[in-house]
Amino acid sequence: MAQEDPNKKSYEKTLAELGVSSPADVGKHFHECQADFASHDLLQIANEEDWKAVRDRWLGRKSGVITLITNNWLKAAAPELKRAAGLHLNELKTEVEQALEERRASIEAAAELAALERDRIDLSLPGVERLLGTRHLIRQTYAELQRIFLAIGYTVVEGPEIETPYYNFEALNIPEHHPARDNMDTFYIEGSNHLLRTHTSPMQIRTMEKQQPPVRIIVPGKVYRRDNPDATHGFMFHQLEGLAVDADITFCDFKGTVDYFVREFLGPGVKTRLRPSYFPFTEPSAEVDATCYVCRGSGCRVCKFSGWIELFGAGMVNPAVYGFVNYDAKRVSGFAFGIGVDRFAMLKYGTDLQVLFQNDVRFLRQFR
Ligand code: PHE
Repeated sequence: MAQEDPNKKSYEKTLAELGVSSPADVGKHFHECQADFASHDLLQIANEEDWKAVRDRWLGRKSGVITLITNNWLKAAAPELKRAAGLHLNELKTEVEQALEERRASIEAAAELAALERDRIDLSLPGVERLLGTRHLIRQTYAELQRIFLAIGYTVVEGPEIETPYYNFEALNIPEHHPARDNMDTFYIEGSNHLLRTHTSPMQIRTMEKQQPPVRIIVPGKVYRRDNPDATHGFMFHQLEGLAVDADITFCDFKGTVDYFVREFLGPGVKTRLRPSYFPFTEPSAEVDATCYVCRGSGCRVCKFSGWIELFGAGMVNPAVYGFVNYDAKRVSGFAFGIGVDRFAMLKYGTDLQVLFQNDVRFLRQFR
């Protein structure tokens, strides 16, 4: 006979090997097993992993306790013990299955609760406030100017802020020793033949060099002049250049365009007038004035009691300029204007120039 292994569990032996001969003894062994399960294994389960281990140990198909008992105690039982073994086995199996199922449900519920607790949203916390930006007044003014000119067929072009004297002066009919150069307070770039453009007019030349008439452009951009900063001056400001050249553009077209633009920008009740002026690149040249937006022409502090406000410089393109871009001065004509955008913003929003560039958000936020 084989040597008995003292470490062998009871269900690894047959009932005969255990020396069981009566149905009552069968019950005793089943109760030991049941106690082993209920007061040991079941109590050890703390999480899903433990649960799986216990389930495999008891219900595993190949070598789980229930399977071993089925084989060793039921199938191998003597005929007179089979009935008792069958009854007890059913009971044990049901109990193990039920208890494990309950345990699984409670572990799951606990995990769910923990997840809920972890993901809880505290509705009493303050929300994230996203501040809305505002467009700068200069940008808003540009947008308005563009809207007005795009509506009558102009297109937008932009050009370099660093220019050559040729484009900034010469091709605009301002030769080397012309006094108009002195008035421009130009910044020259040391050691180079370049300067910071003093106006957006160079783009008139650059555009006409590349393109045959008809030309209808506006040119937004920064320009630079040596000025002492005060409420209405700075070393940099913004302009909007305008140029229209075609086969048959007259002074009437010029005046009509100016009127349309000023009324669109300042309001339908505003009147304009042209005052003679001088620019080397326009002939005749004019300053465009509008009736004061405060007193409507009757005279007040804003218009210095003249009833008029100076708006911008303009004029019919000087035929001399066409010579620089190979346009036939006998066959084309046109007009140009140079609007000070900062000045327009100041007029429209009643602010001073420095405030426009200090970018204090408290100021900027007023203009949403
Ligand atoms: N370029 C001129 C200036 O900056 C303005 C201007 C533009 C005048 C176009 C006439 C025609 O002062």
